[in-house]
Amino acid sequence: MRFVVTGANRGIGLEFVKQLTSRGEDVEATARDPDDAPELQALARTGVRLRVHRLDVADDASVAVFAEKLPPGPVDVLVNNAGVSGVKGGEPIDPTDILRVFNVNAAGTLRVVRALLPRLRAGRGKKIVNLTSQLGSIAEVSGGRYAYRLSKVALNMATRLLAEDLRGEGFRTVALHPGWVQTRMGGSAAPVSPEQSIRGMLRIVDGLAAEQSGRMFDFQGREIPW
Ligand SMILES: NC(=O)c1ccc[n+]([C@@H]2O[C@H](COP(=O)([O-])OP(=O)(O)OC[C@H]3O[C@@H](n4cnc5c(N)ncnc54)[C@H](OP(=O)(O)O)[C@@H]3O)[C@@H](O)[C@H]2O)c1
Repeated sequence: MRFVVTGANRGIGLEFVKQLTSRGEDVEATARDPDDAPELQALARTGVRLRVHRLDVADDASVAVFAEKLPPGPVDVLVNNAGVSGVKGGEPIDPTDILRVFNVNAAGTLRVVRALLPRLRAGRGKKIVNLTSQLGSIAEVSGGRYAYRLSKVALNMATRLLAEDLRGEGFRTVALHPGWVQTRMGGSAAPVSPEQSIRGMLRIVDGLAAEQSGRMFDFQGREIPW
């Protein structure tokens, strides 16, 4: 299977690439700056099936160049992982931050989907995996983090829309919450390791059934209400 993983130079994206390549998958990994992605580049030199590409999901031109330069052939699974957390603390309602975070987490994901759709349509996997957050659940909201929560609510709706619009073509689209994970975004106090989180999420992705399309699950398989 051929996977595309965005935001793969560190954190959850990097661990996706490690686990996927270790089981022999073909992986196209992206980084905003491939020249500053030492772990990813080192992994690519070990002979696994991994190529590293430049991609800024917030930038139309960058997405267009990425899609054009990607080596030919279908893509089976798209993992939309790239994301930003927004300013923590400070002014809670910051319109500039809201738009910046939305542009990466929500519009950025859809930019990549749109650019890769022809290749995904040609693939056998037909899976689109969006890294969301429980913080984007309206049903379980607890307050604060406006920019991040708004962006993930929009991403969740995008997941539902893609599931509806592409269901007839055999696609399965899912929103996955990775847990609170030890990454730069999650911080060192997080209880879940990247290894655990990605192992759990890959189990869900591998076994993704048509009836799970358009729904949100955490890395342990618990369904999260919208
Ligand atoms: N960690 C958690 O506890 C947690 C919980 C819930 C959801 N999530 C979600 O999981 C995903 C990965 O999070 P993480 O914890 O691994 O975060 P992270 O450690 O901060 O890594 C984020 C990744 O996204 C990339 N990125 C940021 N802006 C980008 C852009 N405009 N274009 C392309 N790539 C961009 C970063 O690249 P640079 O290095 O260039 O900045 C980095 O590779 C995110 O969608 C996040 O919202 C994480």
